[in-house]
Amino acid sequence: MLNQALAIANGKGGVGKTSLTANIAVMAANSGWDTLVVDLDPQGNLGADLGYRHLGRSDEGRALSKAVQFEEPLEPPVIGIRDHLDAVPGGRLTRELADVLLTRGSRVAAKAMDAALAPLTERYDLILFDCPPGDDVLGDLGLAMARALVIPIKFDTASMDGLELMARRFRSIKTRAINSELELLGIVLFDFNPNATALRRQVEDELHRDFPYGVRVFSRAIRHSQRAAYDMRRSGMTAVEYERAAAEEKEKRFALLQTDRDLLKRFGPAKSQAARGLADDYAVLANEILEAFTEPTIVITDTDDQPLLDIPADERVLESSW
Ligand SMILES: Nc1ncnc2c1ncn2[C@@H]1O[C@H](COP(=O)(O)OP(=O)(O)O)[C@@H](O)[C@H]1O
Ligand SMILES: [Mg+2]
Repeated sequence: MLNQALAIANGKGGVGKTSLTANIAVMAANSGWDTLVVDLDPQGNLGADLGYRHLGRSDEGRALSKAVQFEEPLEPPVIGIRDHLDAVPGGRLTRELADVLLTRGSRVAAKAMDAALAPLTERYDLILFDCPPGDDVLGDLGLAMARALVIPIKFDTASMDGLELMARRFRSIKTRAINSELELLGIVLFDFNPNATALRRQVEDELHRDFPYGVRVFSRAIRHSQRAAYDMRRSGMTAVEYERAAAEEKEKRFALLQTDRDLLKRFGPAKSQAARGLADDYAVLANEILEAFTEPTIVITDTDDQPLLDIPADERVLESSW
């Protein structure tokens, strides 16, 4: 387990895992956190969202696959994709890694992953795992390495049904002692109408069924914005970057409208202005998540093996795990 690592996971595909990973990563890096993203998904979509795939800088999972198979220190192949942001890409070679790990089992795989990643912990304040869909060994790797887990969900029947599976998997990672320290940080409502308060209550009720001990639902949801999401992935920009580009482009278009209408026509369709709301959602949500992640957990340490209740309150030792 790596103390700086946060896994974004859900066995279902298309629920916002990759979008969330990319956007949180850029937000954290913009705030000066030395951040590493690790793409565990053979689809390698994180490379599209952050732009390194379009730039031909993805190794399609080669470095990760080699480091884990041979238990040697991993050197992130993509350095400085933004200030303070490096990446370990996923791709077709991640699929090969999955096949190898399948024969070894989750526990052995986790140990190999630990050997590959542990040397990196000194270099980064935050390590984000974009987990693949499915519930196989590859998916377990992210959960095995992380101190905390964030589950994005989309409100449709399939996703809500999949959540029960995710709740079971979370418990199983802990009870099989693959990572007994894993903490469920909270649930993100993805592609969700911010005004749907009755629906939100319904989701929270359903969550209570799957997580009977309670679970935090982050208060800011990510709104539906298909057009901006499509453009962002195509251009390798996160919401805040796309919003900035859209605002700059709007100014240029306005200037050309008065000076050179022919050139304006060649500009193509305008960027979606909807990214502004989306960027705001990600900024607020990233803050909520990172605050929860760095919140010190109070651990009450029983110093001399006496039952805690017998020790006067003022003699108990309070420790922060962060
Ligand atoms: N705010 C949004 N509104 C609507 N669709 C979105 C939004 N953000 C992302 N998408 C789209 O949803 C799909 C799934 O998102 P993705 O982050 O790849 O999910 P996952 O990693 O869980 O498979 C992608 O096609 C993406 O472009
Ligand atoms: Mg994904």
